[in-house]
Amino acid sequence: SGRASSLEAPKHTGPAHCSTHWLLSEARGQIPSSYWLKRFSPSPLSMKQFLDFGSINACEKTSFVFLRQELPVRLSNIMKEINLLPDRLLTTPSVQMVQSWYIQSLMEILEFLDRNPDDHKVLGQFVDTLVTIRNRHNDVVPTMAQGIIEYKEAFPQDPVTNQNIQYFLDRFYTSRISIRMLINQHTLIFDGTANPVHPNTIGSIDPHCHVGDVVQDAFHSAKMLCDQYYLRSPDLVLREMSKKNPPVSIVYVPSHLYHMLFELFKNAMRATIETHESSDHLPPVHVLVSLGDEDVSIKVCDTGGGVPFRRIENLFSYMYSTAPAPQLGEHTRPPLAGFGYGLPISRLYAKYFQGDLQLYSMEGHGTDAVIYLKALSTDSIERLPVYNKTALKNYQLRQEADDWCVPSKEPLDLSNYKGPK
Ligand SMILES: Nc1ncnc2c1ncn2[C@@H]1O[C@H](COP(=O)(O)OP(=O)(O)O)[C@@H](O)[C@H]1O
Ligand SMILES: [Mg+2]
Repeated sequence: SGRASSLEAPKHTGPAHCSTHWLLSEARGQIPSSYWLKRFSPSPLSMKQFLDFGSINACEKTSFVFLRQELPVRLSNIMKEINLLPDRLLTTPSVQMVQSWYIQSLMEILEFLDRNPDDHKVLGQFVDTLVTIRNRHNDVVPTMAQGIIEYKEAFPQDPVTNQNIQYFLDRFYTSRISIRMLINQHTLIFDGTANPVHPNTIGSIDPHCHVGDVVQDAFHSAKMLCDQYYLRSPDLVLREMSKKNPPVSIVYVPSHLYHMLFELFKNAMRATIETHESSDHLPPVHVLVSLGDEDVSIKVCDTGGGVPFRRIENLFSYMYSTAPAPQLGEHTRPPLAGFGYGLPISRLYAKYFQGDLQLYSMEGHGTDAVIYLKALSTDSIERLPVYNKTALKNYQLRQEADDWCVPSKEPLDLSNYKGPK
């Protein structure tokens, strides 16, 4: 709580509109960085803090005062990094559009810096503004992806550019996940209605999230999609391991877990069906949920033929994703395989609360995908990007000679070797 109160609007910098103007200029890249950086670092929240904001003595005013400071901080930190993208990417219409959404949303929240937190009308307007912002940013991922595709088509790619863009997008999408998390918590808790479907959730957090139930839900959805495409689908075999009594349950955001599992199941099903095309029998997808002292691990095992080890890293790359441009604004059937963002975004969800997602594949056999989550809510703390000198350095990487020899395709013929000329 000490953290949150120290984050109130910086009164000592003069009238609120001054800091408003300042944040905005800064986010647009018009002010040198050193001064701002220390004072405007994002404040990661723990699961416990999220729950406190939404518990019985939840105070809309406290949440409002925190968010009107924290949301601009998170927005403008990532806007600094957008500004560091290569010019030829930054100036694509898609990235320009994304950038304009961020500026617009930042301005709308900054409007609230000098508003009275004791005024109920202000609090109501704030909720409305947050909903507007959430909707404005709905299509950020496909729009950004479109920008990357345009850039990729226009300019030949090198590993360093790929690395820079990977670095940026991982941070950009993490930032987006976190901003939406904050917005969802506030709007869900303070829109004045109870959640009839999930009465025990606090905003989007379930204090007793049954991992096995989410596995079943996500599998069921993927299975229906799979049936539509292939007219068949593998079954699920689920096993739970725990020293305590099953079912395994954690404090978590079920929708995040569902997202990750749904992506893994779609991949597992597609691989299974395509490698067993000529067979009447489809081997099932095995899921093992294991609760330890520190981790909850969820392993999804398929026998879908696997992926060569060399390609594993590329499966998480935004630049190397092979699929064609995503279709914007069209309400087509959700495809079983998308534009190659399933794995990278799922890994970001896992990492967001200090977990991870890894693939272990055996080409010729199949793939194990493991989601690692923190078992203890005290360990589940937001993992957030912060703009600083180290981040800046990552955008200034240039192509340099590799310090490992590049193997030539043709092995050197040493039979007639007479020494160097
Ligand atoms: N379980 C799996 N078995 C085999 N290949 C997989 C598996 N999971 C992922 N892949 C490969 O990784 C690629 C990227 O996966 P993903 O990020 O989900 O994007 P998409 O499914 O949209 O292509 C897939 O296209 C597929 O080639
Ligand atoms: Mg996929």
